[in-house]
Amino acid sequence: MVGVGTRSLRPEDAEALIRVENLVMEFPGPRGAVLQAVSDVSFDVLEGETLGIVGESGCGKSTTAKAVIQMPRPTSGSVVYRDADLTSMDKETLRSKRTDLQMIFQDPISALNPRRSVWDIISEGVEIWGTHGAWTDARLIELIESVGIDPQYKDRKPFQFSGGQCQRISIARALALDPRVLICDEPVSALDVSVQAQILNLLDDLKTEHDLTMLFISHDLAVVRNVSDRVMVMYLGRVAEVGDADSIFDNPIHPYTQALLAAIPGSGVVDDGSLSGELPSPLDPPTGCRFHTRCAYATEVCITTVPEFEQFGPDHWVACHNPQGTPVTL
Ligand SMILES: Nc1ncnc2c1ncn2[C@@H]1O[C@H](COP(=O)(O)OP(=O)(O)OP(=O)(O)O)[C@@H](O)[C@H]1O
Ligand code: SF4
Ligand SMILES: [Mg+2]
Repeated sequence: MVGVGTRSLRPEDAEALIRVENLVMEFPGPRGAVLQAVSDVSFDVLEGETLGIVGESGCGKSTTAKAVIQMPRPTSGSVVYRDADLTSMDKETLRSKRTDLQMIFQDPISALNPRRSVWDIISEGVEIWGTHGAWTDARLIELIESVGIDPQYKDRKPFQFSGGQCQRISIARALALDPRVLICDEPVSALDVSVQAQILNLLDDLKTEHDLTMLFISHDLAVVRNVSDRVMVMYLGRVAEVGDADSIFDNPIHPYTQALLAAIPGSGVVDDGSLSGELPSPLDPPTGCRFHTRCAYATEVCITTVPEFEQFGPDHWVACHNPQGTPVTL
């Protein structure tokens, strides 16, 4: 299921490894206001896939990803991982599950403890969390090598490495816990372009080698297209469109997805200028469809009513009152 509404929206016969339903995440805003960073979002992550999450800054990508790993626990909604609801688990049970779900972040240098050596950083998690398999020093050395760091530098501190190397160390730290799911939040956006491709290739190799399922967040739509099997487009805390990567990139139906793609040179999508309009504040989001203040196709109903999802292909769903394509009945 995805978006708002109760329809089961995923490719037929696909098994979800993670099922997020009606996720809401609120934060205290200024002067007693409530900021709803994620508003009733539902989606599935299928076993073995990479689900890309895209959308403008502040649309709730990181908050959604962090809510999946319960950091912090969501305000409401459920996150079911392998048939177990993480949101209702007590702390200890959650702790034992959390090793399965690891996250790497945008800024690799600040994500690593500056006072600890690479060896300590990577083995720390194994010591704290316990292990799934029998991790030995030899296996940790193998892991350090597998992310492209020379093990002879294992006693060095993060500041002695480049940004790209620090991201490799972060990846090794996550993999040391033998996760099933790797959540990558803008993992290459702080790196030089030449290094980005190396880290993306590394993630791709490790995904296959470790049989991982991935959530991949990025501003860079070209990167998302390259790495993702399926893509979810978010706008101001809600899902606008979701589907297999080819459908999203070759046949975008939601005006917001079209506007995002129009910004990529060579996308072939015509820019209607809607993203030049101001992004509303999440403290006071527009009524109905939250994109109505910027959308070139908005009509009266868009102001009053939240759009439900409709299906546009075997794995393609869009929430829009005036979709730029024809729905299908499968
Ligand atoms: N801990 C917090 N306290 C208060 N507000 C928060 C907190 N975390 C996120 N927010 C707000 O929630 C909204 C969504 O933030 P989030 O970081 O999830 O967006 P994002 O899509 O990841 O953006 P970016 O692309 O800039 O990383 C933003 O308005 C942000 O300011
Ligand atoms: S529901 Fe209306 S405002 Fe929202 S994207 Fe569709 S046409 Fe635009
Ligand atoms: Mg973010």
